[in-house]
This record gives sequence, C-alpha cells and structure tokens, in this order.
Amino acid sequence: MKAIRGAITVKADTADEIKENVKLLLTEIVEKNGLSIENVVCIMFSNTADIHSFYPAKAAREVGFFNCALFSSLEPEIDNSLPLCIRVMVLAEIEDNPKHIYLKGAADLRKDITEKLNIAIDGPAGSGKSTVSKIISKRFDILYLDTGAMYRACALACVNLGVDCANESAVNAIVDSIDISVKYENKMQRTYLNGTDVSESIRTPKISMLASVVAAHGCIRTKMVDLQRKIAKENSCVLDGRDIGTNVLPHAEFKFFLTASPEIRANRRLAENELKGFKQSFADVLQEIKARDEQDINRKIAPLLKADDAIEISSDKLSEEEVADAICAQIQGKI
Ligand code: CDP
Repeated sequence: MKAIRGAITVKADTADEIKENVKLLLTEIVEKNGLSIENVVCIMFSNTADIHSFYPAKAAREVGFFNCALFSSLEPEIDNSLPLCIRVMVLAEIEDNPKHIYLKGAADLRKDITEKLNIAIDGPAGSGKSTVSKIISKRFDILYLDTGAMYRACALACVNLGVDCANESAVNAIVDSIDISVKYENKMQRTYLNGTDVSESIRTPKISMLASVVAAHGCIRTKMVDLQRKIAKENSCVLDGRDIGTNVLPHAEFKFFLTASPEIRANRRLAENELKGFKQSFADVLQEIKARDEQDINRKIAPLLKADDAIEISSDKLSEEEVADAICAQIQGKI
C-alpha cells in the first residue's frame, strides 16, 4: 500500500468551491496514479480553520468514493500558513511510486515531492526551438530554460579570460572559475556569468560559434548538465538544446526534435541578426549554420541527435505558432 499526498486551495469558503476543488484534486490523483476507485483504501482530509461550509470528505463521497473509509480533520491555526487549503492523504494499493498532486495555490507547497512537467525540445541552430519554447512555456505557464545560453556564457567566460575555446586543457584549467546561473524576471530567463547579467552580450555571431566549440568539452558539459538537471528537477519547464532528450533528461515525458533545411534556418537567423544590428550576408550565415551543425553533430560527447522516442517536427512549412500548436496537441490530454 502507498500513501499519495495532495493539496488544493479554494477561492472561497462555499460548498460549491469545496466540492468542485476536492473533485478536481481527487480526479488528478486517480488519473496521474492510474488508480481505480476500488484500489483506494482510505482518504484522509485536513483543512485550514477558515473552511466551515462543507466537509471535504463529504465531497469525496459525492465524486464516487463510496466504499473507502473517509476522514476529515481540522488543522491548527498556524501563523502565515496558506489560507483556504485542503490537504489530502490517499492510501491505495498501487505498485508504482506515488505521484503527489498539489494544485492551485498549493502548487508550490511540496516542490520536493511533486513531479515536474519537463518538455525537451532539441534541434539545430535556427530550427525555431527558442521561439517555440517561449510560446509553450507561456501556454503552460512553466519556465523556459535556454540551455544554449549557458554554453554561450561559458564561451564568453573563455573570451574574457583570453582562453582559446578549442583548447580543452586550457578550458579545463578555468572551468572552476566559471559560475553560470539563471534567474527569471517577468518569467524571462536572464543568464549570469560570475554574477554579471550577460543575457545580451552572449547573442553575437562570434559567441554562437565559440559556444559550439566550448560545448564539445566534457568538463563544460558535466557542469552545465548538472545545473540543467537541478533546475528541471525543481521546476516544471521546457528546455531547449541539442542533447536534452538524449542526455540531460532521457526520461522526460515529452520530447520533440525540430528540423528545417539549412537555407530556411539561415534566413531566419539572418533576419534575427539584422534586428540585433549584426550585418552579415546570407552566404556567411548559411556557412556558419552548416559549420555549427557539423560541430554539434560530430562531437564525441552528447552530440546533436534525435532521441528515439522524440517526435520530429519539420518547421520548413510551418509557422512558429503552428509548431507550438503541434507540440501542445501532443501534450494536452496527457497532463
Ligand atoms: O540559438 P541557437 O540554436 O543558435 O544556439 P543555442 O541553442 O544558443 O546554442 C549555442 C551552442 O551551444 C550550440 O551550437 C551547441 O553547440 C551548444 N549547445 C549544446 O551543446 N547543448 C545544448 N543543450 C545547448 C546548446
């Protein structure tokens, strides 16, 4: 028998709100854990002292839990605790590890035990990963982790220290001095190198090429992948990169691989770079895209590769919104 934990908040202390939210919480617990009502042995509720209108346990009866034992209790009034909150513990006969469900205002209560939604989006430069990832992160209200920005910041660290990105032992010698972190402002990622916000300065064509060079070294990848896994473990997020589905999060529930022809990708990158004020010819951008593909695909460690279980989407003929629609259609209904 396993114990499944959960909690939800209600907007107001009314019978309808309590019934509706207990129903939502129990339905999620049942669906996410693949429970059948017969497997549930007992359900224990507790609620904060500001809830008076209806027993949460009674709401469970109303949503179909007729046979199992139900229990409701009142929590002590604790200063600064989350108001209007209903907590639950479901004891059920299941084999798998329990999936704990925390919803609405209670979503952040037990970050340590709740499963996070991780969406992996890999693909080559200019395949639309970052734009599509931003759209998806907004639609699901989750973080967007731009892992490429981390490798770019590593390349900038080497440039600042006058270290040749291609020289693995020179990079190895300074790797401990590279401190990369990400913060979110208005839900947008800001990337920091040794405490300085480098979000804009890492976007030059020169850093694009050097990021690809420095990202081939094991010492850099180990450090960045550790950080990416930590962020993904603690937060629901969409991560874009080259090796998310194959290496960073091989067990991610949702994996996508975006492609597009080099010419289309070069055109997109040319337009982006023009907006940023970088003047390059189409031929130069195309050449840079192909060189980066070559480096990223052929490196020994964690090369750019579609995971066997990733869904491939070609964005040659699709707009970014259409690619995002295709990805969301795969995810919705499964979460
Ligand atoms: O935005 P764009 O596709 O041009 O590049 P990016 O995603 O910012 O990544 C810059 C470089 O970092 C790539 O060319 C890769 O070599 C490297 N990278 C990586 O190795 N692994 C990742 N998960 C993400 C980026």
